[in-house]
Amino acid sequence: MEVICCKTYDEMSREAARAVAQVLNAKPDAVLGMATGSTPLGLYQELVRMHKKEGLDFSQVTTFNLDEYVGLPTTHDQSYHYFMHENFFKHVNIPLQNIHIPSGTTSNYHAFCEWFEKRIVDAGGIDAQILGIGSDGHIAFNEPGSSLSSRTRLKTLAKQTIDDNARFFSSREQVPIYAITMGVGTILEARKILLLANGKKKADAVAQAVEGPVTSMITASALQLHPDSTVFVDDDAAGKLKMREYFDWVQKNKPGAPKV
Ligand code: F6R
Repeated sequence: MEVICCKTYDEMSREAARAVAQVLNAKPDAVLGMATGSTPLGLYQELVRMHKKEGLDFSQVTTFNLDEYVGLPTTHDQSYHYFMHENFFKHVNIPLQNIHIPSGTTSNYHAFCEWFEKRIVDAGGIDAQILGIGSDGHIAFNEPGSSLSSRTRLKTLAKQTIDDNARFFSSREQVPIYAITMGVGTILEARKILLLANGKKKADAVAQAVEGPVTSMITASALQLHPDSTVFVDDDAAGKLKMREYFDWVQKNKPGAPKV
């Protein structure tokens, strides 16, 4: 696991965007796994800037989103469909038919989840998966206790997640309690993983994910088992990392490190 500690949210967003751009430069038809929520907004803004100002091309890219609330129509301003189109897709040149977001309104969730997993495989697998982290340590909506080999499925959200996400809705009662989410096992199959976290509220979850034991109680800790995962944190989210000094030392000495 590589940990990149950045001074600010903006710097974290730029570093993560640079990592995504590197994937696209090496493989223009890459398959990207997308996350929603407040964390990746800066990353998406930077990718849009790179697209508009530096010609970063998404015309051959395919995307798969991590999750969607159950019961919200795609036009609802808190649905992840709406979020992705408003904050990213409508500003870049990904063909609409290449965009996949779990359905929160299908009449058959089981069949949909199977189809979604198969679409990922048919697309050649996910090259780079963007992730945020919940304050309860979740990745996607894999709440504490989720199997570390879970696949895309229907999930009941934890109270902590409903509390955290209530800020986006007019009241806590409006927050859906079910979601469809990629599983931890699905996420671990991505070739590269980029997890972003900012703010003091994420410091405990980040420390447990990076330095704690691998446990289904902090599903982000499963990333320790992945051969190519990078964690991008701002100063606040890095606040409880015991190995912060070492992580900074590694980054500082990277330019002189022997090439692998
Ligand atoms: C969203 C997702 C969630 C969020 C997490 C953090 O697609 O998968 O795991 O990444 O809940 O949310 P924010 O960024 O709003 O703090």
